[in-house]
Amino acid sequence: MNYFGYKNGELYCENVSVRAITEKTGTPVYIYSAKTLKRHYNVFKNAFVRTKPLICYSVKANSNTAIVALFSSLGAGADIVSGGELFRAVRAGIDGKKIVYSGVGKTLEEIIYALTEDILMFNAESIEELDAIDEAAGLMGVKAPVSIRVNPDINPHTHPYISTGMKKNKFGIDIRYAREAYTIARSKHHLQVIGVDMHIGSQLTEVSPVIDALKRVQGLIKEIRKDGIDIRYMDIGGGLGITYKDERAASPDNYAGAIEKTLKDFDGRLILEPGRVLVGNAGILAAKVLYRKDNGMKKFMIVDAGMNDLIRPSFYDAYHEILPVDETRSKLFKQDVVGPICESGDFFAHDRNLPLLERGRAVALMSAGAYGFSMSSNYNSRRRAAEVLVDDKEYYLIRTRETNNDLIKGERIPSFIKIRSNHV
Ligand code: LLP
Repeated sequence: MNYFGYKNGELYCENVSVRAITEKTGTPVYIYSAKTLKRHYNVFKNAFVRTKPLICYSVKANSNTAIVALFSSLGAGADIVSGGELFRAVRAGIDGKKIVYSGVGKTLEEIIYALTEDILMFNAESIEELDAIDEAAGLMGVKAPVSIRVNPDINPHTHPYISTGMKKNKFGIDIRYAREAYTIARSKHHLQVIGVDMHIGSQLTEVSPVIDALKRVQGLIKEIRKDGIDIRYMDIGGGLGITYKDERAASPDNYAGAIEKTLKDFDGRLILEPGRVLVGNAGILAAKVLYRKDNGMKKFMIVDAGMNDLIRPSFYDAYHEILPVDETRSKLFKQDVVGPICESGDFFAHDRNLPLLERGRAVALMSAGAYGFSMSSNYNSRRRAAEVLVDDKEYYLIRTRETNNDLIKGERIPSFIKIRSNHV
């Protein structure tokens, strides 16, 4: 079931015309389909029939509070990596006891905030971080629930920037030292060791690296249990990939089946941290054609969204399908689709076959629901886009477009600098 498609020659999100939204809210605008989000969550959840894991939605993939709240209403918890994400998760109604906190650089302030919210567990990524959590918990007179993120040294076969479980990556504690790390953690007065955690990378299309990593982690669990440490939670991270172009990512069923088979003897609770697989194909970025130009060698389509709105093509050379919002049968020409930013890296596609769309026509950058808005910035002092959530025939603005005043929010001009203009 695809909730994005053409009807009578126009691109629709569920039962709302994308052009109608762009005319009302302007462009660029992110548009998400609530039905797709719900379907993805339920397919993922139902795939894990036997283990009934705690599904902690990875907030970084799309952190709009409306999206987080939607998952919360379906029963999800949250995987967070900052105090800001914790704030969003709490705002979206997620109970602290369904929140896991990962990341290599948690500050003392963030640790204290998370303890105040009584989160399920910290996924600690270094011995020094264990010290810091112990210290913070000591200050508050509580015991902090922790797991250790283990780096299993497995190649996940994905883009190097999003591979996280190899020795050369900064994440987790090397599995060879993990047993020792658990012994250290146990010796801390204000820590309660309850789990083990891993996350080997993102946009994984194969299940086998996850299974190899799981086997290593299971070996570790056996050892640390021998040491008398009770492991109640096994958090295996997120990472399941999606189809952007022609990738054949494992289905949630295959992913779940292989994991459940490997974990058949594990008697604790499984935790998953899916991000992209839930939101990636549930959102698009709609933009408008500003200009066309042809320099004799190349054709360019200049649109009003830029790398500040969707950085994935520039950053990872990622592919996003581009569709005209009004279906057209006109001839296709190879062209570069680029944004207005003053960087040659500001592109969405190179040599893409597309019709020559006139000024003002809208295009949709597909599969932009994950790591789209959440990675956007104000570079070139561009106001960040609006976001809209569609539910059947209705749509809701879930984030207004930023204003120029938003751009300078928090900035101060010191008094020794005299402002010459009388316009301010
Ligand atoms: N858990 C942890 C600890 C993570 O670091 C991540 C993603 C996830 C879960 C969720 O992974 P997912 O299910 O979404 O693959 N910006 C990149 C992706 C970065 C992923 C970072 N960590 C992109 O646009 O492809």
